[in-house]
Amino acid sequence: MKADILKVLLQSHAEGDESSFRKAALQLAAAESTAGHVRVADEIRAIVAKMPAAGARKPGPIVDIASPRGELADILEGGHRDERLRDIVLRADVRDLLLRVISENRSRSRLERFGVSPRRRLLFHGAPGCGKTLAAAVLAGEMGLPLMTVRFDALFSRFLGATAVQLRAIFAEMPRRPGVYLFDEFDSVAKARGDSQDVGEMNRVVTAFLQLVDADVSGSILVAATNHVELLDRAVFRRFDVIVPFERPTRDQIVDLLNLRLGTIGLTEAQAEQLASQADGWSFADVVRACDDSVRTMALDDREEISEHDVVHALEELKRRELPARG
Ligand SMILES: Nc1ncnc2c1ncn2[C@@H]1O[C@H](COP(=O)(O)OP(=O)(O)OP(=O)(O)O)[C@@H](O)[C@H]1O
Ligand SMILES: [Mg+2]
Repeated sequence: MKADILKVLLQSHAEGDESSFRKAALQLAAAESTAGHVRVADEIRAIVAKMPAAGARKPGPIVDIASPRGELADILEGGHRDERLRDIVLRADVRDLLLRVISENRSRSRLERFGVSPRRRLLFHGAPGCGKTLAAAVLAGEMGLPLMTVRFDALFSRFLGATAVQLRAIFAEMPRRPGVYLFDEFDSVAKARGDSQDVGEMNRVVTAFLQLVDADVSGSILVAATNHVELLDRAVFRRFDVIVPFERPTRDQIVDLLNLRLGTIGLTEAQAEQLASQADGWSFADVVRACDDSVRTMALDDREEISEHDVVHALEELKRRELPARG
């Protein structure tokens, strides 16, 4: 009995359904009273009484979510994110652009009063390990929205033949669960279209995607990420309001990243400057790996401060073992 109420409680919370949530909470109080737990029942009722009346809450973008259920769970993963702008190193103009998109979405109703809407269809493109996925998480974190990752590759390999149907199901979620919807490996649409397998099916999928994007008025943020922007055709391109490049880090950005990751455990500015030259041409992700390795060494040595040697060693190891293999 109580388990059933708890399920309703969780579900209505997940769906942002205030009034079912309130009813379920009162049912729980009733169940506790019946079981003789009068104090607990009173406490629950007191909490419910303090909740703002249904409908009184501002229609904000913050809706908590549970993971999607059923078949969708295989292709759509969701969760709240803690990443913030301070956690990512960005070119100044890219940072400004993201900040602008965040404020536009925060000020939706003010924009709509003047007949314009916030830009919310973003295309992130660039080399691997340079922050596309991280930036989507940062957008979600900054806006208090869950990041819903659509596994585009999974969508194709497992549901070929039903891909358009699955896509439709995802777009149907967007108004129900406000979030940042990340279509990762986005080029797999375009790539697959070029492959021989079933060109008709792929054209249908792309057409379905474009129609769904056009029809979507959900207010959710849509981010498509790709390493192969050159594979996308104009019709796809045109659907995006903002195109954001993610490039390999400059020397200064590597310094910033080293400071960000190791500054709090004793790496000095001057050391970071010195070390950065050894990571020329690396991606952000490679530098982060070296940072993490150096922290492991420090922790194993039972120290609380990083030494320059820890980092040099980690950089050299990574260069020697991993980077050549990737070419
Ligand atoms: N600009 C950045 N600032 C700080 N850390 C970064 C940045 N880019 C990447 N990283 C680090 O590298 C990790 C991997 O980056 P991310 O997954 O965002 O790359 P990506 O561009 O999505 O790559 P892929 O094309 O392979 O999906 C991040 O979790 C983060 O630790
Ligand atoms: Mg990625």
